[in-house]
Amino acid sequence: METLSGNVLQNERQGEAYQATDTSDIDKPKFYLESYGCQMNFSDSEIVASILLEAGFESTQAVESADLILINTCAIRDNAEQRVRKRLSLFNSYKKEKPGLLIGVLGCMAERLKKKLLEEEQMVDLVVGPDAYRDLPKLVRQAEEGEKAVNVFLSREETYADVSPVRMDGNGVSAFISIMRGCDNMCSFCIVPFTRGRERSRNPYTVVEEARSLLTKGYREVTLLGQNVDSYRWENGEQVDFADLLAMVAELDPDMRIWFSTSHPKDITEKVVHTMARYPNICNYIHFPAQSGSTDVLYRMNRNHSHEWYLDKIRMMKRIIPDIGLSSDIMTGFCGETAEEHQETLRLMDEVRFDMSFMFYYSERPNTPASKKMSDDVPLATKKARLQEVIQRQQQHSLENNARQVGKQFQVLVLGKAKKSNQQCKGRNTHNRMIVFDDQGFEPGQYVTVQVNDYTSATLIGEPVNE
Ligand code: 5AD
Ligand code: SF4
Repeated sequence: METLSGNVLQNERQGEAYQATDTSDIDKPKFYLESYGCQMNFSDSEIVASILLEAGFESTQAVESADLILINTCAIRDNAEQRVRKRLSLFNSYKKEKPGLLIGVLGCMAERLKKKLLEEEQMVDLVVGPDAYRDLPKLVRQAEEGEKAVNVFLSREETYADVSPVRMDGNGVSAFISIMRGCDNMCSFCIVPFTRGRERSRNPYTVVEEARSLLTKGYREVTLLGQNVDSYRWENGEQVDFADLLAMVAELDPDMRIWFSTSHPKDITEKVVHTMARYPNICNYIHFPAQSGSTDVLYRMNRNHSHEWYLDKIRMMKRIIPDIGLSSDIMTGFCGETAEEHQETLRLMDEVRFDMSFMFYYSERPNTPASKKMSDDVPLATKKARLQEVIQRQQQHSLENNARQVGKQFQVLVLGKAKKSNQQCKGRNTHNRMIVFDDQGFEPGQYVTVQVNDYTSATLIGEPVNE
């Protein structure tokens, strides 16, 4: 991972083991599931777990006791794949002591490398793409019989709408709901359209049902997930767009917070932002990847918008919700990026002043349009130096934005204990700012009004207000 620090968070999570309560039935085969990458992958792992549990498997968090080790992988940058390869060779070494052990690769790397993983690299027994998880029990049986177990078929319909995800044992307050799969955008640098296939939207009523079921289990916030939520569309006699879906979920309960990710500058509509303004429980925060501030680079990236277009959308958001929280994805060193084009990115950052960004340097991915048509010609040292500049600028903006919060009061949803002290709680306000404050016996899932007294670039520090 690029060196990121302080407030500069990563949207690429690494190697978290699927955690569910172990049931101890000695006869059942045990699976261990580790996930990498974006929120969508973690959401998919909950679907995988559901399918396996339904088929009579049992989950374990202890890799040594597993009969089946699965890694749900990310292919977005080369270093994400290298990390998985290291894990695979470690897991392979376990086979010496446990000959029947099966190892499977799921997700984007499985889709990208397909049979290569089985044949040339001989590191795995199963290769299962993101649209083939229903086939997992059958593929495991095939692998047990020594057959090659591969399904990397990409579907135009699969949304797993009827599979009830088995939640990761997180805080019991926050959950993800996938509202669509795939991506039709073809940004020239991106592998996702090739690994996750064509875009398809999920039946909105199944989304609402999933949110309702989470609510009855005590969850208090949901994040609606899609690669490009603004192109969500359901047509079946009636038409439901993303703004309509947001409203449907928001109406379930005013105490249930709604977040969403990811919005695309070319597609976001005023209707979405007006819907956010209309429902207080839709959080006032948009993750709005700019990628670059240079119109020419954006053209080469096939993003279908310009620097000015992006700023227009930001102005539109701020007109409707003046204090909206904003974050971005920013990439340095894309093919042909000049020093002036890089300055355009810094200029855009100064104009918007994001609260937070996920920042990367460009990593060429095989068979993407950029890899076929353009030269990856910015030297690595330049890519990294530009990334450092972008990181520094973001840290400055995060610090300044947080400074402006001092003296304000916010309704905060308690997520649990603060990392650094047991005497403190952490929670988020509607702008997605993390706030820590003294624990007065608060429970996760409770709303508390907090007055901000202090800040760092990553966190606000406050006091509960006794109403
Ligand atoms: N190299 C570096 N970063 C990438 N991203 C997508 N593809 C690449 C790549 N080839 C970044 C984009 C995207 C985020 C999820 O990952 O910024 O928005
Ligand atoms: Fe990749 Fe672009 Fe689709 Fe995002 S919108 S997943 S960056 S192709």
